[in-house]
Amino acid sequence: MTKLLGISGSLRRGSYNSALLRAATRLMPPDSTLAVASIRGIPLYDYDIEVQGFPAAVTQLKDAVVAADGVLLVTPEYNNSLPGVFKNAIDWLARPSADIKRVFGGRPFAIIGASAGAFGTILSQTAWLPVLRTLGTQAWSGGRLMVPRAANVFDESGALKDAAVAEQLRQFLAGFVSFVRRPGA
Ligand SMILES: Cc1cc2nc3c(=O)[nH]c(=O)nc-3n(C[C@H](O)[C@H](O)[C@H](O)COP(=O)(O)O)c2cc1C
Repeated sequence: MTKLLGISGSLRRGSYNSALLRAATRLMPPDSTLAVASIRGIPLYDYDIEVQGFPAAVTQLKDAVVAADGVLLVTPEYNNSLPGVFKNAIDWLARPSADIKRVFGGRPFAIIGASAGAFGTILSQTAWLPVLRTLGTQAWSGGRLMVPRAANVFDESGALKDAAVAEQLRQFLAGFVSFVRRPGA
């Protein structure tokens, strides 16, 4: 069984990215699972908080990443880059720096995202790349999934209603799971 963890980078109740992640949980290939994680409850990074003790939400997310065979970041795009709230969560997971290898080192990561605009988070996804490289992840580049004009892709309940996007998502997930399972990994 291959166990992936998906993290939505949006706190919005009606988030397209959280909806995309929920849809992904239902499109996983056989013998694989995708658990859903949230960045809710993670405070703004502050070293003074760190020295007092790691917040429970940080420890919980970190443990979930460590337990996963691979991690799927589902990222919004803010001002042609990655959202600060999402980056803040990843920054917390990279503390203390002595833990970076255990949490991120060699771990497969993939990125998808949905945006209201026409480019479907292409610039946000690109902005994540130096972060994932810095942390020593194995960022998978064998597939891409950008979901533009998300208002047309999800219905009012947040269900993925676009069959073509669903198929792209299914193929992306199959490719990422194959990468996670690659021989020698
Ligand atoms: C601060 C901010 C900046 C944004 N910048 C972009 C952008 O650069 N490109 C884009 O396509 N959408 C942009 N948007 C619109 C988002 O795509 C839209 O709010 C989307 O719903 C966010 O993802 P979510 O639904 O998962 O919360 C921006 C939204 C906010 C709040």
